[in-house]
Amino acid sequence: METKIFHRDTWAEVNLDHIYKNISSMKTRLRNDVSLFAVVKANAYGHGDYDVAKTALEAGADFLSVAFLDEALSLRKKGITAPILVLGASRPESAALAAEQGISVTAFDEAWLESAKAQLKPGQVLQVHVKVDSGMGRIGIRDKSQLMKVEGLLMREPCFNFQGIFTHFATADELKTDLYEKQLAVFKAMLAELTERPEYIHAANSAASLRFADPIWNAVRMGISMYGLSPSMEMKPLLPFPLQQSISLKTKLVAVKQLVEGESVSYGATYTAQGKEWIGTLPIGYADGWIRKLQGQEVLIEGMRVPIVGRICMDQCMIKLPRSFPVGTEVTLIGDDGVESITVDEIAAKLETINYEVTCMIGARVPRVYIKDNQKKHIRNFILE
Ligand SMILES: Cc1ncc(COP(=O)(O)O)c(C=O)c1O
Repeated sequence: METKIFHRDTWAEVNLDHIYKNISSMKTRLRNDVSLFAVVKANAYGHGDYDVAKTALEAGADFLSVAFLDEALSLRKKGITAPILVLGASRPESAALAAEQGISVTAFDEAWLESAKAQLKPGQVLQVHVKVDSGMGRIGIRDKSQLMKVEGLLMREPCFNFQGIFTHFATADELKTDLYEKQLAVFKAMLAELTERPEYIHAANSAASLRFADPIWNAVRMGISMYGLSPSMEMKPLLPFPLQQSISLKTKLVAVKQLVEGESVSYGATYTAQGKEWIGTLPIGYADGWIRKLQGQEVLIEGMRVPIVGRICMDQCMIKLPRSFPVGTEVTLIGDDGVESITVDEIAAKLETINYEVTCMIGARVPRVYIKDNQKKHIRNFILE
């Protein structure tokens, strides 16, 4: 499974020690009876699902969570045997496969459960977490009578185990807490209707787990903070412990040339040299997630900030250099170089988006180099797997 090579000098470094530390810090903050669900959907927010899942489990995570069944199956295929919850909607036709693979699914509809029941083979038991829509407006049960029907069906049918109930907050990362409080109250009112509480009651994402510790939940779902990133900019000053960013993005100069006044760079000739200028070419482009809106963004070379000039191409982009540098010189797009640093948050600000989107955007074509025990340990090249 592990492909140890890559043939293009662009790579993302993922520091597993940092991920381990971020989870350990969260665990010391949680009550002893609170389980930690590590959220590794979307290829672990772009960091690589298998290696992050393994690290999370080593750091004490009790459960893994993904968005879709295929992501859970991919982890099983790679040898992960820990419990996994699919947070999003699954097809009822997939019920037998999920049960066979010991994968817990999310349900929020009686008709879905009836269809899933018809798919299950004799003797199979499907682990089900019921989703309550307390105000996110995405998926989930919205009224008590529907919850009663779903609970009744889950209790009645031996092919189901009512393993958990959960909700998701829309604004836990905002300073204003009114919607958070309203959602929590709705969730509590729904829980009060249950005849019996399932094993896991979970509501908090990173933001809520970092800020609040309501006795109603006995599990939290930790996503963005596991990767060392703050759930929002306004929450940064509220973080109860320092988070360590775990991803860097690196490349190397593949060409260096001097332009003279009037010569231009890249598609559309949007950048023109004002005099003699050194221009370096980097083997990374929008197909790797380094999107065109990053034109003008700075990168680091020998600890200096230099700008991307001209339009970013599909596979390459150009930077303006203060002097000639040898081909092969390392360039940092995200991460530290000397005293300079470019954070995921800086890229998110440039793109007017959130840090989640930046790490998820780093494409499968970019190999991941994992750092463990403070050493470069192994490489995963998703396109050669
Ligand atoms: C249902 C659900 N739970 C938990 C999370 C993790 O949230 P965060 O990354 O903010 O910790 C997500 C992420 O989008 C989610 O959709």
